[in-house]
Amino acid sequence: MPATIIDGKQISKDIQAEIKQQVADFVAAGYQPPKLVAVLVGEDPASQVYVRNKERACKRAGIDSELKRMSAESTTEQLLDLVNQLNQDPAVSGILVQLPLPPAIDAIKVLDAISPLKDVDAFHPENVGLLSQGRPRFLPCTPFGIVHILKRSGIATSGKSVCIIGRSDIVGKPMALMLAQKDSPLGPEMANATVTLCHSRTKDLAQVCATADIVIAAIGKPEFVSADMLKPGAIVIDVGINRTDDGLVGDVDFAPAAEVASHITPVPGGVGPLTVTILLENTLKAAQLNQAI
Ligand code: GUN
Repeated sequence: MPATIIDGKQISKDIQAEIKQQVADFVAAGYQPPKLVAVLVGEDPASQVYVRNKERACKRAGIDSELKRMSAESTTEQLLDLVNQLNQDPAVSGILVQLPLPPAIDAIKVLDAISPLKDVDAFHPENVGLLSQGRPRFLPCTPFGIVHILKRSGIATSGKSVCIIGRSDIVGKPMALMLAQKDSPLGPEMANATVTLCHSRTKDLAQVCATADIVIAAIGKPEFVSADMLKPGAIVIDVGINRTDDGLVGDVDFAPAAEVASHITPVPGGVGPLTVTILLENTLKAAQLNQAI
């Protein structure tokens, strides 16, 4: 029985329409529109596409956006100066420094310098700490997007076994924290999972995966998850975006996996569109927070 293919584009569209309305309500209440400033250092082609998509999505939602471009030869100090300027600018609600940064720049120093109240990526240690204590301020865009996808697909996580493959700071680790919590901004049914966080040193990864009700693949290896690693009826969320000679593929071997899973996200058109959508949600939240102080 082939799986239901989850339409991330449609889910994203629906949420963006709701955010647009919330932004309109915020502005109607007399506040300045939320404003996102993206900082792009260098000319990385993939980063240019991502940043352009973020700007377009902001425009559609009624959120102001500005792109600050810096040369690939910029120094850490120059970037810190810009971040400090944006921190102090009351017209700026959210700040996003597009990753990866050139290797000569101290990325951790730059990300740590972003005001935690404008940290729409939720990368700042204060926001990571708040999440780990179960009292999140901003939630990181890709993992929170996955929670939205599951909720809007009628899939609760409470009591389920979840296997997350990949322990990155951007996806795997915060995803594990979020799903293991007692509660979620989307309701307790969207938390309370039993989470196994797998990585390159996990013993018998295939067997661990095969016991899971929900598999979240975020390891960055093309078609790493094969159909025989899945429990029949498993829910499969593919976070991978791998450029290969055969085009864009995810971390899951899609067609065979779709024969075993009950629900599966495609690549492209699955998780990807949600990342930008949650960025909009976080930018509106930042505007609301910064109004309140
Ligand atoms: N590069 C790839 N993904 C991301 C992301 O979520 N945020 C930022 N700032 N850069 C990225």
